Amino acid sequence: MDKLMPSAGDHQLQNYEQMRDSFTWSDVEPVFSWYKSGKVNAAYECIDRHAADGKGDQTALLYSDKNRNESHTFEELRKSTNQAAHMFKKIGIQKGDRVFVFMPRSPELYIALLGIIKAGAVAGPLFEAFMKEAVRARLEDSEAVSIVTTPELLERIPYDELPDLKKIVLVGESEYPDKRFYSFYDEMKASPTDGNAIEWMDREDGMILHYTSGSTGKPKGVYHVHNAMIQHYQTAKWVLDLKEDDIYWCTADPGWVTGTSYGIFGPWLNGVTNVVRGGRFSPEDWYGTIEQHGVTVWYSAPTAFRMLMSAPKHALENADISSLRHVLSVGEPLNPEVVRWGMEAYGHRIHDTWWMTETGAMLICNYPSEPIKPGSMGKPIPGIKAAILDNQGNEMPPHEMGHLAIKSGWPSQMRSIWKNEAKFKDYFYFKGWYVSGDTAYRDEEGYFWFQGRNDDVINTAGERVGPFEIESKLVEHPAVAEAGVIGKPDELRGEIIKAFISLNDGYTFTDELKTEIQTFIKSELSAHAVPREIEFKKQLPKTRSGKIMRRVLKAWELDEPAGDLSTMDD
Ligand code: WT7
Repeated sequence: MDKLMPSAGDHQLQNYEQMRDSFTWSDVEPVFSWYKSGKVNAAYECIDRHAADGKGDQTALLYSDKNRNESHTFEELRKSTNQAAHMFKKIGIQKGDRVFVFMPRSPELYIALLGIIKAGAVAGPLFEAFMKEAVRARLEDSEAVSIVTTPELLERIPYDELPDLKKIVLVGESEYPDKRFYSFYDEMKASPTDGNAIEWMDREDGMILHYTSGSTGKPKGVYHVHNAMIQHYQTAKWVLDLKEDDIYWCTADPGWVTGTSYGIFGPWLNGVTNVVRGGRFSPEDWYGTIEQHGVTVWYSAPTAFRMLMSAPKHALENADISSLRHVLSVGEPLNPEVVRWGMEAYGHRIHDTWWMTETGAMLICNYPSEPIKPGSMGKPIPGIKAAILDNQGNEMPPHEMGHLAIKSGWPSQMRSIWKNEAKFKDYFYFKGWYVSGDTAYRDEEGYFWFQGRNDDVINTAGERVGPFEIESKLVEHPAVAEAGVIGKPDELRGEIIKAFISLNDGYTFTDELKTEIQTFIKSELSAHAVPREIEFKKQLPKTRSGKIMRRVLKAWELDEPAGDLSTMDD
């Protein structure tokens, strides 16, 4: 398909080629107040700085769901996040403590999360759909000392089995079983809106801990520091193209990195009005949100666009979305036909962006000022060197597929995997390079083209799922002897989860058993971890050392040659 040319107009990144050669990250630092003092707090830079700059009355947050419609100014958020920070300090939260937020999207979630950061603690966002074992794994691994949650979600937190978890803050009316529990609203009311709420940090101090999945082992805690704000700020300018009077909507939940880096930091560091929609996806609701708030910049994901593409036409026809001026996507491959449809349906190019939980912020992107090649993720942002490496770590020429890698050392790069030095080092096995785990190629004009994952990580509806966590849970079911889990290509969701299982003696594979196993996974892990397909096998393909060979399962599923089988057990 041909290139889609940029529209004329004033974009924040006007001359990509020139910036790419001349830009260094230290150019950004004078923007922030810490440039002089040396001490930083990202929550201050998101909120208080704008209130101090005379923008206190500007709307910072526009929140809506079925029952609520609220707007909060920067000055109001300055006060409420101060109150939250005071609350956390009063209940004993110390600098560096991990404090989790586990609740549906609401203004309280955003206030709590920024309050945690203001108080100098490390915020741990948890997606509201997680069930008990998924919650336990994350709280245990991070040695979380506190969690903010709702009374409804409390039963999914095994707090009596988590000795480190000493403070539980409940958002909503509830009974308080014992003195570990606090009322969010009561404590907020009792806390001052000013005073020394903010803990001043070093830029390399911890800010946020996002759990994500790899192909082996438990979920890993990806640790980010305050310094990441440099890149959140600058990419929100260049790529989201945010300007002061924009109304910006990122559809991601803060349980995922997109929902924090670009649902909190990017827009607010730029002093922009940020829209948050609570509740679930529906085409009417989503277009209604754009119309209601006059959204100008919209950041979403391929699965959502594909769902909107297949929604009844009237959903779009009944809404006025003419306020939009810039549309973006992240999280999974953006199909060229979706880009084509976007031109027809919205009259806008959908700008694909590539990055990961570990990278903290965007790295390879399409810019409003540059031509788009549909199907390509775009080009590295200024300040970033990306390359395609061969198996020896050498850079490969254009059009050859290899490991997508980034020269290590960008501002928002993860600083560690929580308590797991070995896992952290795995990313850097070619000296000086961060190796993403994705395969890609680069063309002669410098555009990068995503090809797939190098490991068994599954990307279903833009959510990253580790097969190992599901396999481990499957074999906990009394009927299941062994399990192998793969991602199976799917038109709508990109991939779906498919499980191959063998059964223990005395069990037969029936539809009832299949449903029972699916319910088991849903109730223990989460809805998005459920294998939509389960296939029974007498035996699973294994290496001689007993490792289940997902690669062979995948080849069977796709009817492709299974490759080298020399390590397979007969
Ligand atoms: C993986 C990272 C940080 C955004 C949310 C996902 C895949 C991400 C793209 C894209 C094709 C993409 C990669 C990557 N991915 N963006 N534009 N095109 N694939 O973050 O959950 O850490 O997943 O998502 O495979 O490695 P994540």
